Amino acid sequence: MADIFTLTNKTTGDSIDLNLREATAGPAALEISALYKEKGILAFDPGFVSTASCESAITYIDGDHGILRYRGYPIEQLAEKSNFLEVAYLLIHGELPSTEELSAFEEIIVHHTMIKETMRNLFDGFHYNAHPMSVMIGVVGSLSSFYHDSLDIHDPRHREISAHRMIAKMPTIAAACYKHSASEPIMYPQNNLDYCGNFLHMMFSTPCEPYVPDQIAIDALNLLFILHADHEQNASTSTVRLAGSSGANPFACIASGIASLWGPAHGGANEAVLTMLEEIGDVSNIDKYIARAKDKNDPFRLMGFGHRVYRNFDPRATIIRKMCHEVLDKLADGNNPMFELALKLEEVALKDEYFIQRKLYPNVDFYSGIIYRALNIPTDMFTVMFAIARTVGWVAHWSEMIADPQQRISRPRQLYTGARERNYVPIDKR
Ligand code: CMC
Repeated sequence: MADIFTLTNKTTGDSIDLNLREATAGPAALEISALYKEKGILAFDPGFVSTASCESAITYIDGDHGILRYRGYPIEQLAEKSNFLEVAYLLIHGELPSTEELSAFEEIIVHHTMIKETMRNLFDGFHYNAHPMSVMIGVVGSLSSFYHDSLDIHDPRHREISAHRMIAKMPTIAAACYKHSASEPIMYPQNNLDYCGNFLHMMFSTPCEPYVPDQIAIDALNLLFILHADHEQNASTSTVRLAGSSGANPFACIASGIASLWGPAHGGANEAVLTMLEEIGDVSNIDKYIARAKDKNDPFRLMGFGHRVYRNFDPRATIIRKMCHEVLDKLADGNNPMFELALKLEEVALKDEYFIQRKLYPNVDFYSGIIYRALNIPTDMFTVMFAIARTVGWVAHWSEMIADPQQRISRPRQLYTGARERNYVPIDKR
């Protein structure tokens, strides 16, 4: 039998029994839904530090031990042995695919990569120097106006085809965002290329000459996309779930997820890390920036450091750090001053009492931008790259939520601290 907690008001003696719901791994959760109904009180947890907002069987994180698993499989194994579309299948369907299932899935994704011709015109409406994330939010949001045939969220087939469309079209939209900013022709996808190769083709080829994506770049992208594919109830995924809980269509929900991802505390960190490294410029300036990060009167934070859940190393950062060595050895003969600077910054921070006490370690985004830079991806596209990969996680969570028979609208409450009731005062009497 599950444990029962009794919550008692020490002043009045009034109490309520709350059930503890066990998890298959990780902390159990106290069921508090009856709290308001039976006692008229709310739970207060700003930032959801101690709140499980839903049940989910997709991704597991143990932040104290640096563990990340997709559907039970350790991230290290998936990073070494799998590829992005296989991981996408796993996250969405819950099991690794058979050979036939995987090739059928790849075939479907490849055949949904084109965007409507009229949709390409949308890009012209954006200013040439618009941030690609702002373009992406708008264009992905517009997908629902092109696909009226699949907006019934209660129809499993509609949900499935919307999921395929989003995963398939995201690289096409992302590359088009870049091409627009570079004033180059938007390229069509090529069905003979794999997911990552196709993205590189749409980013870097032009109609003027043939382009063959580099295998090192394809492998690096595959790995980065696997690492970014899902991370349980992070801010953007929770945003997608919250938007979707009202019955909004999946394209609108994913657009809201992209908006949430953009912030520098979340997916925007990879862009912010590169900007920060450029600003630091040289190892001789590291101490100055570490001092700024520790100064409570200075808003500067060491970008790419710290994580709400990981209080030990971020396993994704460990994998990417290793990959940085491999990719930079091959692409830049190991010569990359930015990487050298990042390694030194990490070394200094990890020895500093401030970072040790607060358990602040490099996160996934401390190193991802260095690889994107080595692949010639422009800095303002870094968060867009994150969005391509995370779309799979968003789709998996949205689908899990909608398929749940107990799903209802998410409606948090508040601890009201505003004015008590008062009477309106005419303007000439104020
Ligand atoms: N530099 C300096 N101090 C920091 C940092 C940092 N990067 N991160 C946290 N702290 C301090 C913070 O000031 C606080 O100190 P104190 O207890 O003295 O007030 C303490 O550490 C705890 O920080 P917090 O803000 O309460 O932690 P949080 O869980 O709310 O925030 C975070 C997590 C990731 C938003 C934060 O660590 C941060 O802003 N990091 C930099 C941005 C970043 O790299 N984000 C990417 C996250 S990983 C990619 C993803 O999944 O989105």
